[in-house]
Amino acid sequence: MQNTEYSKPVLGIESSCDETGVAIYQPGHGLLAHALYSQVALHADYGGVVPELASRDHVRKLLPLVREVLAEAGLGMRELGGVAYTAGPGLVGALLVGASAARAMAWALELPAIGVHHMEGHLLAPLLEADPPEPPFVALLVSGGHSMLVAVRAIGEYRVLGDTLDDAAGEAFDKTAKLMGLSYPGGPALAAEALKGDPGAYRFARPMTDRPGLDFSFSGLKTQVLLAWQKSDQDARARADIAAGFEQAIVDTLVIKCRRALQATGMRRLVIAGGVGANRRLRADLAAAGEADGFRTYFPRLAFCTDNGAMIALAGALRLSAGQVQGPDIHVHPRWSLESLEPLTSAGAHAA
Ligand code: KG4
Ligand code: ZN
Repeated sequence: MQNTEYSKPVLGIESSCDETGVAIYQPGHGLLAHALYSQVALHADYGGVVPELASRDHVRKLLPLVREVLAEAGLGMRELGGVAYTAGPGLVGALLVGASAARAMAWALELPAIGVHHMEGHLLAPLLEADPPEPPFVALLVSGGHSMLVAVRAIGEYRVLGDTLDDAAGEAFDKTAKLMGLSYPGGPALAAEALKGDPGAYRFARPMTDRPGLDFSFSGLKTQVLLAWQKSDQDARARADIAAGFEQAIVDTLVIKCRRALQATGMRRLVIAGGVGANRRLRADLAAAGEADGFRTYFPRLAFCTDNGAMIALAGALRLSAGQVQGPDIHVHPRWSLESLEPLTSAGAHAA
């Protein structure tokens, strides 16, 4: 039974890193509106995210985006039923901007509010699509800060099967791109280069696939690329070929570990989420592995692989529908274990 109060529209705010995302999700109706402002141009000159600049830009952009999504959904503030915001993990100042705005709105409007785990948001993003996955499933979470395989027995019940020992997959893309002179963020730039190259021209390692286990380590791969790049002619051909070889190495490694995780858990569904989930080679190779092995793959649309407010509005709406509300204090968690989350016990905990 769904709590009727919480079947009202929920405002979601994402501000953990360098994107300000705001959206409205209503249980039973789906996503009503979403808007995103990316700070990529602001940080590009520095080759990475500058936390203080990120916080200040979130302050500038957040309220205009809230007004924009309310207008797009045709709603007044008083028609909202709850507020959800990313409470971690992420940059502390950036998180505090979203958390403070969300808590202030909730207090002023006398609405329930909830802090959402950013990676739970990513993991649930495929539930925003038609034909959403039902737990149990394995989730591959690959973003700028994380590379994780997670067993999802139910929404809110997460067991981390494998994690990164050093660089996350997205971080490996970003650092590798940077050392070959590509612009920030490196993932999309490197993927575009890879399209022009021959993935067989350079053969890089598939780290930690020669031993059992589901952990990842990508920092050595970056060093291999650096050496290959230094020895090459450092021209367009070499850049494209090295990019293609690097991308294939990461994708093969992720595919091998996903297959192992599905085998180990006996689960038949694989959810892919996080910024690297936008990578087309990864999507194609995982879909092919699924056809060969008999598991189904679920991807969010490309815009919901990278950070966005829609996934936070959805995750918050599910938790509010399950009766989970927190007190008015503003707490953020720059580091936060996915396994420490409270399970969703209410039967109302289903996406629209
Ligand atoms: O999930 P996300 O937007 O932010 C974090 O929570 O970290 O992920 C951003 C990461 C960046 O490292 C970016 O380079 C990577 O996702 N990324 C990609 C692609 N699009 C974004 N990596 C590979 N191929 C892509 N097409
Ligand atoms: Zn993210």
